[in-house]
Amino acid sequence: MSGATVLVTGGAGYVGSHSVVQLLNQGFKVVVVDNLVNASPECLKRVEEITGKKVISVLVDLCNKDEVDKVFSKYKIDCVIHFAALKAVGESVSMPLTYYRNNVGGSVTLLEVMKAHNVKKIVYSSSATVYGTPQELPLTEDHPTGLGCTNPYGKSKYFVEEMLKDLVKSDETWSVISLRYFNPVGAHESGKIGEDPKGVPNNIMPYIAQVAVGRRKDLRVFGNDYNTLDGTGVRDYVHIQDLAVGHIAATNKILNPNFCGWKVYNLGTGSGLSVLQLVKAFEEASGQKIPCEVVGRRAGDIDASYADVSLAKKELHWEATRGVLDMCRDTWRWQSLNPNGYGESE
Ligand SMILES: NC(=O)c1ccc[n+]([C@@H]2O[C@H](COP(=O)([O-])OP(=O)(O)OC[C@H]3O[C@@H](n4cnc5c(N)ncnc54)[C@H](O)[C@@H]3O)[C@@H](O)[C@H]2O)c1
Repeated sequence: MSGATVLVTGGAGYVGSHSVVQLLNQGFKVVVVDNLVNASPECLKRVEEITGKKVISVLVDLCNKDEVDKVFSKYKIDCVIHFAALKAVGESVSMPLTYYRNNVGGSVTLLEVMKAHNVKKIVYSSSATVYGTPQELPLTEDHPTGLGCTNPYGKSKYFVEEMLKDLVKSDETWSVISLRYFNPVGAHESGKIGEDPKGVPNNIMPYIAQVAVGRRKDLRVFGNDYNTLDGTGVRDYVHIQDLAVGHIAATNKILNPNFCGWKVYNLGTGSGLSVLQLVKAFEEASGQKIPCEVVGRRAGDIDASYADVSLAKKELHWEATRGVLDMCRDTWRWQSLNPNGYGESE
């Protein structure tokens, strides 16, 4: 459905910016709204360099209804991809109200404005975290959600999914696709955009990359006594470019006039990799040694998590095509070309 106008909330962030590149390359018109709370304006300049296209972007806080309303009045939006959220698990434990206000409150405001403008198609960035501790693996979309969400970040993702389901139940002219990402890693092949966490990275891949580039001394491995092949935690890492392509598939589906209602899809590769396997792959791809120090487990971490990806394959015709060496190579290209990310010092 290229030619349609997609409003992308959080489009200056990590997953958002890679998806904006794909959307522009596929001929969609894109309007980005972001308050830059966790992003740099440089990112969208790089998106323009990669695509050779101008990005319309508006500095908007989703919690500000008037600001959001103005965007919907100015542009004729066909559908929304909703990435904007705060995502640091640890921070969410110490600042729960900030997380609920931003992630849940911001989503309510967005949906109210969408409804007022009769824009009823939304692709939502959800997370495998909604599954909590897996009852069985691989995780299918009908695995119970919410029960094991141990932190406000994860709960905010779950609450918004529940809210979206209620919305569809109340008015069947809404179309909602929730994408549950597993562990997005990697960067655009150009090395121009990538993950640029502020402060100490929460996720392992940017941490490894910062060790490789000399910004951090060693990687702290949280626990080596999990019930996994080598004792370290196992996760389903998915290349950010594959994830971005998944958003195109979801956007095309949601824009199809025959689609309405609620759908949820896992986006992962379907196989798990331990921390030590990931480190080894990164060393191989980058030629850099990653010193590791094993420390105690982190509260709330689980043994293993990986996706059943058959539903996305069947209904979105999407599957991940990039392997772990691509993920590591592209992360390293981004990090080595941009040792300080988009240039802001810590
Ligand atoms: N990266 C991951 O590991 C991961 C995994 C699962 C799900 N997700 C979800 O994917 C989405 C995108 O994650 P990301 O990794 O790109 O994060 P990110 O922090 O890089 O991007 C989020 C963007 O949203 C913006 N934002 C936050 N609150 C806002 C507000 N109130 N108004 C306007 N803009 C706001 C930030 O400035 C940032 O640019 C999030 O919803 C996150 O929960 C991410």
